[in-house]
Amino acid sequence: MVMQAIRVAQHVGSCHSKGMENAVKHQVAVVIVAAGRGERAGLADGPKQYRMMGGQSVLACTVSQFQRCAAIDCIQVVIHADDVDHYNTALTDWDKVLPPTIGGRTRQESVRAGLNALEAHTPESVLIHDAARPFVSQNLIERTVMALHTDPGVLPALPVVNTLKRSSKGDFVEGTVDRCQLHAAQTPQGFHFKPILAAHQQAEALGQTEMTDDSAIAEWAEIPVRLIEGDAKNKKLTTAQDLNEAQMAMETPIVDVRVGHGYDTHQLVPGDHVWLCGHRIEHNATLSGHSDADVGLHALTDALLSAIADGDIGSHFPPSDEQWKGARSDIFLKHAVSRVGQCGGTITHMDVTLICEQPKIGPHRDAMRAAIAAISGVVVERISVKATTNERMGFIGREEGIVALATATVVMRGTL
Ligand code: CTP
Ligand code: MG
Repeated sequence: MVMQAIRVAQHVGSCHSKGMENAVKHQVAVVIVAAGRGERAGLADGPKQYRMMGGQSVLACTVSQFQRCAAIDCIQVVIHADDVDHYNTALTDWDKVLPPTIGGRTRQESVRAGLNALEAHTPESVLIHDAARPFVSQNLIERTVMALHTDPGVLPALPVVNTLKRSSKGDFVEGTVDRCQLHAAQTPQGFHFKPILAAHQQAEALGQTEMTDDSAIAEWAEIPVRLIEGDAKNKKLTTAQDLNEAQMAMETPIVDVRVGHGYDTHQLVPGDHVWLCGHRIEHNATLSGHSDADVGLHALTDALLSAIADGDIGSHFPPSDEQWKGARSDIFLKHAVSRVGQCGGTITHMDVTLICEQPKIGPHRDAMRAAIAAISGVVVERISVKATTNERMGFIGREEGIVALATATVVMRGTL
Protein backbone atom coordinates (compact mmCIF):
# COMPACT_ATOMS: atom_id res chain seq x y z
CA MET A 1 0.00 0.00 0.00
CA VAL A 2 2.73 2.40 1.05
CA MET A 3 4.88 1.48 -1.91
CA GLN A 4 1.98 2.17 -4.20
CA ALA A 5 1.47 5.60 -2.66
CA ILE A 6 5.14 6.46 -3.08
CA ARG A 7 5.27 5.19 -6.62
CA VAL A 8 2.24 7.23 -7.71
CA ALA A 9 3.65 10.33 -6.03
CA GLN A 10 6.58 10.23 -8.41
CA HIS A 11 4.30 10.60 -11.42
CA VAL A 12 5.46 13.60 -13.46
CA GLY A 13 3.02 16.08 -14.94
CA SER A 14 1.71 19.60 -14.90
CA CYS A 15 0.80 21.08 -11.53
CA HIS A 16 -2.80 21.21 -12.63
CA SER A 17 -4.45 20.63 -15.98
CA LYS A 18 -5.47 24.32 -16.02
CA GLY A 19 -1.76 25.13 -16.24
CA MET A 20 -1.58 23.45 -19.64
CA GLU A 21 -4.29 25.76 -20.99
CA ASN A 22 -2.86 28.92 -19.50
CA ALA A 23 0.91 28.96 -19.49
CA VAL A 24 1.08 32.60 -18.32
CA LYS A 25 -0.62 31.95 -14.98
CA HIS A 26 1.61 31.94 -11.91
CA GLN A 27 1.50 28.29 -10.78
CA VAL A 28 1.01 27.95 -7.06
CA ALA A 29 1.40 24.59 -5.33
CA VAL A 30 0.78 23.73 -1.69
CA VAL A 31 2.60 21.30 0.58
CA ILE A 32 0.46 20.16 3.50
CA VAL A 33 2.53 18.34 6.11
CA ALA A 34 0.53 15.63 7.86
CA ALA A 35 3.23 13.11 8.79
CA GLY A 36 3.48 13.92 12.51
CA ARG A 37 2.27 11.61 15.28
CA GLY A 38 0.43 14.23 17.35
CA GLU A 39 1.94 13.09 20.64
CA ARG A 40 0.87 16.18 22.59
CA ALA A 41 -2.78 15.61 21.58
CA GLY A 42 -2.63 12.04 22.92
CA LEU A 43 -2.10 8.92 20.86
CA ALA A 44 -5.10 6.90 22.04
CA ASP A 45 -7.47 7.99 19.25
CA GLY A 46 -4.89 7.98 16.45
CA PRO A 47 -3.01 10.88 14.84
CA LYS A 48 -4.76 14.23 15.38
CA GLN A 49 -4.93 15.07 11.66
CA TYR A 50 -7.31 12.13 11.08
CA ARG A 51 -9.67 12.87 14.01
CA MET A 52 -13.20 13.80 12.99
CA MET A 53 -14.47 17.37 13.27
CA GLY A 54 -18.04 18.16 12.18
CA GLY A 55 -18.28 15.11 9.91
CA GLN A 56 -14.86 15.56 8.26
CA SER A 57 -11.33 14.70 9.33
CA VAL A 58 -9.03 17.56 10.41
CA LEU A 59 -6.93 16.82 7.30
CA ALA A 60 -9.93 17.01 4.95
CA CYS A 61 -11.00 20.34 6.53
CA THR A 62 -7.50 21.72 5.96
CA VAL A 63 -7.14 20.43 2.40
CA SER A 64 -10.62 21.66 1.43
CA GLN A 65 -9.62 25.25 2.21
CA PHE A 66 -6.90 25.05 -0.47
CA GLN A 67 -8.92 22.86 -2.84
CA ARG A 68 -11.64 25.51 -3.11
CA CYS A 69 -9.27 28.47 -3.44
CA ALA A 70 -8.97 29.67 -7.07
CA ALA A 71 -5.39 30.90 -6.46
CA ILE A 72 -4.17 27.33 -5.82
CA ASP A 73 -3.28 24.90 -8.61
CA CYS A 74 -2.21 21.71 -6.87
CA ILE A 75 -1.80 20.24 -3.41
CA GLN A 76 0.85 17.80 -2.22
CA VAL A 77 -0.02 16.12 1.07
CA VAL A 78 2.83 14.52 3.04
CA ILE A 79 1.78 11.61 5.22
CA HIS A 80 3.30 9.07 7.60
CA ALA A 81 4.01 5.62 6.15
CA ASP A 82 1.63 4.07 8.70
CA ASP A 83 -1.27 6.35 7.71
CA VAL A 84 -1.99 5.32 4.12
CA ASP A 85 -5.35 3.76 5.05
CA HIS A 86 -6.30 6.77 7.19
CA TYR A 87 -5.39 9.02 4.28
CA ASN A 88 -7.38 7.03 1.74
CA THR A 89 -10.44 7.27 3.98
CA ALA A 90 -9.97 11.01 4.57
CA LEU A 91 -9.45 12.17 0.97
CA THR A 92 -10.77 10.63 -2.20
CA ASP A 93 -10.92 12.13 -5.71
CA TRP A 94 -10.08 15.75 -4.88
CA ASP A 95 -9.07 17.15 -8.26
CA LYS A 96 -6.22 19.44 -7.13
CA VAL A 97 -4.72 16.86 -4.77
CA LEU A 98 -1.70 14.92 -6.05
CA PRO A 99 -0.97 11.39 -4.80
CA PRO A 100 0.46 11.59 -1.25
CA THR A 101 4.13 11.28 -0.50
CA ILE A 102 5.77 9.89 2.65
CA GLY A 103 7.28 12.27 5.21
CA GLY A 104 10.22 12.01 7.57
CA ARG A 105 11.22 12.01 11.24
CA THR A 106 10.97 15.78 11.65
CA ARG A 107 8.61 18.39 10.21
CA GLN A 108 11.52 19.77 8.21
CA GLU A 109 12.15 16.37 6.61
CA SER A 110 8.46 16.04 5.78
CA VAL A 111 8.40 19.46 4.09
CA ARG A 112 11.45 18.52 2.08
CA ALA A 113 9.76 15.29 0.94
CA GLY A 114 6.77 17.36 -0.20
CA LEU A 115 8.96 19.86 -2.08
CA ASN A 116 10.91 17.03 -3.74
CA ALA A 117 7.64 15.45 -4.90
CA LEU A 118 6.53 18.79 -6.39
CA GLU A 119 9.78 19.43 -8.26
CA ALA A 120 8.60 17.55 -11.34
CA HIS A 121 5.47 19.75 -11.48
CA THR A 122 7.57 22.94 -11.73
CA PRO A 123 5.38 25.36 -9.76
CA GLU A 124 6.60 28.94 -9.49
CA SER A 125 5.56 29.29 -5.86
CA VAL A 126 4.67 27.04 -2.99
CA LEU A 127 2.70 27.50 0.21
CA ILE A 128 3.75 25.24 3.08
CA HIS A 129 1.02 24.54 5.60
CA ASP A 130 0.44 22.39 8.70
CA ALA A 131 -2.37 19.84 8.36
CA ALA A 132 -3.06 20.66 12.01
CA ARG A 133 -4.34 24.17 11.07
CA PRO A 134 -7.81 23.44 9.63
CA PHE A 135 -9.16 26.95 10.24
CA VAL A 136 -6.95 28.66 7.64
CA SER A 137 -9.15 31.19 5.81
CA GLN A 138 -9.50 31.86 2.08
CA ASN A 139 -8.47 35.42 2.80
CA LEU A 140 -5.18 34.40 4.40
CA ILE A 141 -4.37 31.97 1.57
CA GLU A 142 -5.10 34.66 -1.02
CA ARG A 143 -3.06 37.32 0.80
CA THR A 144 -0.10 34.94 1.07
CA VAL A 145 -0.25 34.19 -2.67
CA MET A 146 -0.60 37.91 -3.48
CA ALA A 147 2.48 38.79 -1.45
CA LEU A 148 4.49 36.22 -3.43
CA HIS A 149 4.07 38.37 -6.53
CA THR A 150 6.60 40.78 -5.02
CA ASP A 151 8.47 38.84 -2.33
CA PRO A 152 10.33 35.50 -2.40
CA GLY A 153 9.24 34.60 1.14
CA VAL A 154 6.02 35.40 3.04
CA LEU A 155 5.25 34.70 6.69
CA PRO A 156 1.82 35.27 8.25
CA ALA A 157 2.33 36.15 11.89
CA LEU A 158 0.61 37.90 14.77
CA PRO A 159 2.30 40.38 17.09
CA VAL A 160 2.90 38.88 20.51
CA VAL A 161 0.41 40.44 22.95
CA ASN A 162 1.31 38.79 26.25
CA THR A 163 4.21 40.04 28.34
CA LEU A 164 7.01 37.51 27.96
CA LYS A 165 9.25 36.29 30.78
CA ARG A 166 12.54 34.49 30.57
CA SER A 167 13.45 31.75 33.03
CA SER A 168 16.39 29.40 32.76
CA LYS A 169 15.90 27.63 36.11
CA GLY A 170 12.16 26.89 35.79
CA ASP A 171 10.53 28.39 38.91
CA PHE A 172 12.06 31.88 38.98
CA VAL A 173 11.82 34.77 36.58
CA GLU A 174 15.13 35.85 35.23
CA GLY A 175 13.99 38.75 33.12
CA THR A 176 11.31 40.34 30.93
CA VAL A 177 11.60 39.99 27.18
CA ASP A 178 10.89 43.06 25.06
CA ARG A 179 7.98 41.86 22.95
CA CYS A 180 7.75 44.86 20.62
CA GLN A 181 9.69 43.12 17.85
CA LEU A 182 8.25 39.65 18.42
CA HIS A 183 5.77 37.86 16.20
CA ALA A 184 4.08 34.47 16.52
CA ALA A 185 4.57 32.58 13.25
CA GLN A 186 1.74 30.77 11.49
CA THR A 187 1.32 28.80 8.28
CA PRO A 188 0.77 28.85 5.31
CA GLN A 189 4.22 30.26 4.68
CA GLY A 190 4.80 31.12 1.03
CA PHE A 191 8.00 30.94 -1.02
CA HIS A 192 9.21 31.06 -4.58
CA PHE A 193 9.62 27.38 -5.29
CA LYS A 194 13.18 27.00 -6.55
CA PRO A 195 14.96 28.95 -3.76
CA ILE A 196 13.07 27.23 -0.93
CA LEU A 197 13.64 23.79 -2.46
CA ALA A 198 17.35 24.57 -2.80
CA ALA A 199 17.48 25.86 0.79
CA HIS A 200 15.84 22.69 2.13
CA GLN A 201 18.19 20.45 0.13
CA GLN A 202 21.22 22.41 1.26
CA ALA A 203 20.10 22.29 4.91
CA GLU A 204 19.78 18.53 4.66
CA ALA A 205 23.20 18.18 3.06
CA LEU A 206 24.71 20.19 5.93
CA GLY A 207 22.86 18.19 8.61
CA GLN A 208 20.56 21.06 9.63
CA THR A 209 17.36 19.07 10.26
CA GLU A 210 15.70 20.55 13.36
CA MET A 211 14.32 23.87 12.10
CA THR A 212 10.68 24.11 13.18
CA ASP A 213 9.34 26.21 10.34
CA ASP A 214 10.22 27.05 6.77
CA SER A 215 10.80 30.71 7.46
CA ALA A 216 13.70 29.58 9.69
CA ILE A 217 15.18 27.74 6.70
CA ALA A 218 14.65 30.78 4.47
CA GLU A 219 16.38 32.99 7.08
CA TRP A 220 19.25 30.51 7.26
CA ALA A 221 19.51 30.57 3.43
CA GLU A 222 19.18 34.40 3.40
CA ILE A 223 15.91 34.43 1.47
CA PRO A 224 14.10 37.64 2.48
CA VAL A 225 10.81 36.88 4.25
CA ARG A 226 8.03 39.50 4.37
CA LEU A 227 5.74 39.52 7.40
CA ILE A 228 2.03 39.71 6.65
CA GLU A 229 -0.82 39.81 9.15
CA GLY A 230 -1.82 36.34 10.38
CA ASP A 231 -5.25 35.34 11.62
CA ALA A 232 -6.10 34.62 15.26
CA LYS A 233 -8.57 31.93 14.16
CA ASN A 234 -5.81 30.05 12.28
CA LYS A 235 -4.86 28.11 15.40
CA LYS A 236 -2.68 25.00 15.29
CA LEU A 237 -4.40 22.08 17.00
CA THR A 238 -1.78 20.81 19.40
CA THR A 239 -3.35 19.50 22.61
CA ALA A 240 -6.37 17.28 23.33
CA GLN A 241 -8.18 20.40 24.54
CA ASP A 242 -7.51 22.17 21.21
CA LEU A 243 -9.09 19.22 19.42
CA ASN A 244 -12.13 19.13 21.73
CA GLU A 245 -12.71 22.85 21.26
CA ALA A 246 -12.34 22.54 17.48
CA GLN A 247 -14.79 19.64 17.41
CA MET A 248 -17.35 21.70 19.32
CA ALA A 249 -16.84 24.71 17.04
CA MET A 250 -17.32 22.62 13.89
CA GLU A 251 -20.36 20.71 15.06
CA THR A 252 -22.84 23.35 13.96
CA PRO A 253 -26.30 21.93 14.55
CA ILE A 254 -28.30 21.35 11.40
CA VAL A 255 -31.83 22.58 11.93
CA ASP A 256 -34.39 20.01 10.81
CA VAL A 257 -36.67 22.06 8.55
CA ARG A 258 -39.23 20.20 6.44
CA VAL A 259 -41.29 21.57 3.58
CA GLY A 260 -44.41 19.64 2.54
CA HIS A 261 -46.43 20.12 -0.61
CA GLY A 262 -50.13 19.42 -1.28
CA TYR A 263 -52.49 19.52 -4.25
CA ASP A 264 -56.27 19.11 -4.57
CA THR A 265 -59.01 19.71 -7.08
CA HIS A 266 -62.80 19.42 -6.97
CA GLN A 267 -65.50 19.77 -9.58
CA LEU A 268 -67.89 22.76 -9.67
CA VAL A 269 -71.56 21.74 -9.94
CA PRO A 270 -74.81 23.78 -9.69
CA GLY A 271 -75.24 25.25 -6.23
CA ASP A 272 -75.11 28.50 -4.25
CA HIS A 273 -71.84 28.57 -2.24
CA VAL A 274 -68.29 27.26 -1.98
CA TRP A 275 -66.08 26.60 1.05
CA LEU A 276 -62.51 27.75 0.38
CA CYS A 277 -59.80 27.79 3.07
CA GLY A 278 -62.37 27.40 5.84
CA HIS A 279 -64.41 30.39 4.62
CA ARG A 280 -67.89 30.29 3.02
CA ILE A 281 -68.44 32.35 -0.15
CA GLU A 282 -71.81 32.83 -1.85
CA HIS A 283 -71.42 31.66 -5.46
CA ASN A 284 -73.45 30.46 -8.44
CA ALA A 285 -71.95 26.97 -8.15
CA THR A 286 -70.66 24.64 -5.47
CA LEU A 287 -67.73 22.25 -5.18
CA SER A 288 -68.75 18.63 -5.24
CA GLY A 289 -67.06 16.09 -2.99
CA HIS A 290 -67.50 13.67 -0.15
CA SER A 291 -66.91 16.36 2.50
CA ASP A 292 -67.48 20.10 2.06
CA ALA A 293 -64.91 19.84 -0.82
CA ASP A 294 -62.78 22.70 0.51
CA VAL A 295 -59.83 22.27 -1.88
CA GLY A 296 -57.75 24.85 0.00
CA LEU A 297 -57.92 23.03 3.34
CA HIS A 298 -57.44 19.66 1.65
CA ALA A 299 -54.26 20.77 -0.12
CA LEU A 300 -53.00 22.31 3.12
CA THR A 301 -53.78 19.15 5.10
CA ASP A 302 -51.77 17.14 2.57
CA ALA A 303 -48.89 19.64 2.76
CA LEU A 304 -48.70 19.25 6.55
CA LEU A 305 -48.88 15.45 6.43
CA SER A 306 -46.26 15.49 3.70
CA ALA A 307 -43.88 17.58 5.85
CA ILE A 308 -43.88 14.84 8.48
CA ALA A 309 -44.03 12.03 5.88
CA ASP A 310 -47.28 10.76 7.37
CA GLY A 311 -49.34 9.67 4.36
CA ASP A 312 -52.09 11.86 2.94
CA ILE A 313 -55.61 13.02 3.67
CA GLY A 314 -57.08 9.89 2.03
CA SER A 315 -55.10 7.54 4.26
CA HIS A 316 -56.27 9.35 7.41
CA PHE A 317 -59.88 9.96 6.28
CA PRO A 318 -60.84 7.29 3.70
CA PRO A 319 -63.54 8.64 1.30
CA SER A 320 -65.26 5.25 1.64
CA ASP A 321 -65.95 6.01 5.32
CA GLU A 322 -69.50 7.35 5.65
CA GLN A 323 -68.69 9.40 8.77
CA TRP A 324 -66.81 12.00 6.65
CA LYS A 325 -69.79 12.55 4.30
CA GLY A 326 -70.56 16.28 4.26
CA ALA A 327 -67.95 16.87 6.97
CA ARG A 328 -66.42 20.32 7.40
CA SER A 329 -62.78 20.17 6.31
CA ASP A 330 -61.68 21.93 9.51
CA ILE A 331 -61.39 18.51 11.13
CA PHE A 332 -58.90 17.32 8.50
CA LEU A 333 -56.67 20.34 9.00
CA LYS A 334 -56.95 20.12 12.81
CA HIS A 335 -55.96 16.46 12.66
CA ALA A 336 -52.89 17.19 10.49
CA VAL A 337 -51.84 20.02 12.83
CA SER A 338 -52.12 17.66 15.76
CA ARG A 339 -50.04 14.98 13.96
CA VAL A 340 -47.29 17.55 13.33
CA GLY A 341 -47.26 18.37 17.06
CA GLN A 342 -47.12 14.68 18.00
CA CYS A 343 -44.06 14.26 15.76
CA GLY A 344 -42.26 17.12 17.52
CA GLY A 345 -42.84 19.63 14.72
CA THR A 346 -43.71 23.33 14.84
CA ILE A 347 -45.50 24.86 11.88
CA THR A 348 -43.67 28.02 10.88
CA HIS A 349 -45.45 28.83 7.61
CA MET A 350 -48.40 27.75 5.47
CA ASP A 351 -49.12 28.92 1.95
CA VAL A 352 -52.15 28.20 -0.27
CA THR A 353 -52.60 29.10 -3.93
CA LEU A 354 -56.15 28.84 -5.30
CA ILE A 355 -56.55 28.58 -9.07
CA CYS A 356 -60.02 29.57 -10.31
CA GLU A 357 -61.79 32.06 -12.57
CA GLN A 358 -64.63 32.62 -10.10
CA PRO A 359 -65.27 33.48 -7.30
CA LYS A 360 -62.78 36.33 -6.98
CA ILE A 361 -60.55 35.50 -4.03
CA GLY A 362 -58.98 38.92 -3.28
CA PRO A 363 -61.86 40.28 -1.17
CA HIS A 364 -61.90 37.05 0.90
CA ARG A 365 -58.17 36.51 1.31
CA ASP A 366 -57.86 37.88 4.84
CA ALA A 367 -61.00 36.09 6.02
CA MET A 368 -59.46 32.85 4.69
CA ARG A 369 -56.14 33.50 6.45
CA ALA A 370 -58.05 34.22 9.68
CA ALA A 371 -60.06 31.00 9.28
CA ILE A 372 -56.92 28.91 8.78
CA ALA A 373 -55.32 30.63 11.79
CA ALA A 374 -58.36 29.85 13.94
CA ILE A 375 -58.44 26.18 12.90
CA SER A 376 -54.69 25.56 13.13
CA GLY A 377 -53.65 27.79 16.02
CA VAL A 378 -50.88 29.26 13.85
CA VAL A 379 -50.63 33.06 13.88
CA VAL A 380 -52.09 34.76 10.82
CA GLU A 381 -48.75 36.43 9.95
CA ARG A 382 -47.44 32.96 9.08
CA ILE A 383 -50.34 32.10 6.78
CA SER A 384 -50.47 33.14 3.15
CA VAL A 385 -53.41 32.76 0.74
CA LYS A 386 -53.15 33.87 -2.85
CA ALA A 387 -55.00 33.17 -6.06
CA THR A 388 -54.66 33.22 -9.80
CA THR A 389 -57.00 32.57 -12.71
CA ASN A 390 -56.06 29.98 -15.31
CA GLU A 391 -56.35 32.57 -18.12
CA ARG A 392 -59.61 30.87 -19.19
CA MET A 393 -57.71 27.75 -20.26
CA GLY A 394 -58.66 24.16 -19.60
CA PHE A 395 -61.20 22.86 -17.09
CA ILE A 396 -60.41 25.66 -14.63
CA GLY A 397 -60.85 28.24 -17.40
CA ARG A 398 -64.23 26.75 -18.29
CA GLU A 399 -65.18 26.98 -14.58
CA GLU A 400 -65.66 23.23 -14.31
CA GLY A 401 -63.47 22.99 -11.24
CA ILE A 402 -61.07 24.68 -8.79
CA VAL A 403 -57.49 23.68 -7.96
CA ALA A 404 -55.50 24.39 -4.80
CA LEU A 405 -51.76 24.04 -4.21
CA ALA A 406 -50.22 24.34 -0.74
CA THR A 407 -46.89 24.24 1.02
CA ALA A 408 -46.27 23.91 4.74
CA THR A 409 -42.96 24.54 6.52
CA VAL A 410 -42.36 22.59 9.70
CA VAL A 411 -39.35 22.82 12.02
CA MET A 412 -38.74 19.60 13.92
CA ARG A 413 -37.57 19.62 17.52
CA GLY A 414 -33.85 18.78 17.94
CA THR A 415 -31.24 18.77 15.24
CA LEU A 416 -30.10 16.37 12.58
N1 CTP B 1 4.65 17.03 10.83
C1 CTP B 1 5.10 16.25 9.78
N2 CTP B 1 6.15 15.40 9.98
C2 CTP B 1 6.75 15.32 11.16
C3 CTP B 1 6.32 16.11 12.23
C4 CTP B 1 5.26 16.98 12.04
O1 CTP B 1 4.53 16.31 8.70
N3 CTP B 1 7.75 14.46 11.30
C5 CTP B 1 3.48 17.89 10.64
C6 CTP B 1 2.33 17.54 11.56
O2 CTP B 1 1.55 16.47 11.01
C7 CTP B 1 1.57 18.84 11.68
C8 CTP B 1 2.64 19.89 11.45
O3 CTP B 1 3.80 19.22 10.97
O4 CTP B 1 0.56 18.98 10.71
C9 CTP B 1 2.95 20.67 12.71
O5 CTP B 1 3.52 19.82 13.68
P1 CTP B 1 2.94 19.51 15.13
O6 CTP B 1 1.80 20.37 15.43
O7 CTP B 1 4.09 19.47 16.06
O8 CTP B 1 2.33 18.03 14.95
P2 CTP B 1 2.87 16.67 15.47
O9 CTP B 1 4.33 16.60 15.31
O10 CTP B 1 2.06 15.62 14.82
O11 CTP B 1 2.46 16.77 17.02
P3 CTP B 1 3.40 16.48 18.30
O12 CTP B 1 4.58 17.38 18.15
O13 CTP B 1 2.51 16.79 19.45
O14 CTP B 1 3.77 15.02 18.21
MG1 MG C 1 5.65 18.03 16.36
